[in-house]
Amino acid sequence: MKAIITGASSGIGQEIARELAARGYDLILVARRRDRLEKLAAELPVQCRILEADLSSAEQCKMLYCRARGEDVEILVNNAGFGLCGRFAVTSLDREVEMIRTNIVAVHILTKLFLHDFRMKNSGYILNVASSAGFMAGPLMATYYATKNYVLRLTQAIREELRREGSAVKVAALCPGPVDTEFNRVADVKFALPGMDARTCAHIAVRQLFKGRGVIVPGRGMQAMVAASKLTPEWLLPRITYHIQKRKIQ
Ligand SMILES: NC(=O)c1ccc[n+]([C@@H]2O[C@H](COP(=O)([O-])OP(=O)(O)OC[C@H]3O[C@@H](n4cnc5c(N)ncnc54)[C@H](OP(=O)(O)O)[C@@H]3O)[C@@H](O)[C@H]2O)c1
Repeated sequence: MKAIITGASSGIGQEIARELAARGYDLILVARRRDRLEKLAAELPVQCRILEADLSSAEQCKMLYCRARGEDVEILVNNAGFGLCGRFAVTSLDREVEMIRTNIVAVHILTKLFLHDFRMKNSGYILNVASSAGFMAGPLMATYYATKNYVLRLTQAIREELRREGSAVKVAALCPGPVDTEFNRVADVKFALPGMDARTCAHIAVRQLFKGRGVIVPGRGMQAMVAASKLTPEWLLPRITYHIQKRKIQ
């Protein structure tokens, strides 16, 4: 049994690696920071292969699949991603394009390629890490929220296609609220709400994935907020989100 985890060098990805290792899965750990992956691999009680890749490159995503495909992968966790804060009119175009490539294009490519193999053998799990940001528009973090909307909706659509064809392959979207990781430092923000422990988030994510849940929102507080957002008129939601996002900017 083998799982491949992108963004395993930090935060949620690292904790999902620990969670799957505890369940006996051998791991393929992916990120750019090899030293971090080596440190994690040394501490885990399972076999780990390290594949260094910059997932903002479509070519490297395809290469990653080619290097991993012979290994009978059972679980794909598309976790690598990052955010960026600020008004859309002034944020860096280059950084946003890099974000779209990492948060969307890489998830799209890896999901498609691994899904092909999983359908052939009629087994496997794909966990796409979206966000509670995926349920709404996010002024002051517009591109990040939009990328997570894409991940959530793509995952839901694929899940329905698989259900209709009676496939045993399971796909799920993980939609956490704030989680204490390196995300804030990378995005240059601070949370407006208290963050969840990354280990708790990963534990819930893996448990719910194996239970077959399609959309996983860890924590009752965040579940209530997502439910409330669905009852809020479309015109009002971005106004509320703007005020929450404004408190995040340092
Ligand atoms: N923290 C939160 O509040 C929160 C909430 C909802 C959703 N999420 C989502 O959770 C996922 C994990 O984020 P995190 O909170 O754990 O943040 P994190 O601690 O900053 O971890 C991000 C991971 O993504 C990897 N990564 C980023 N860009 C990459 C690239 N171009 N190529 C390969 N790997 C790349 C990083 O590895 P290297 O830098 O070593 O490459 C790192 O392992 C993201 O998709 C994020 O959007 C986070």
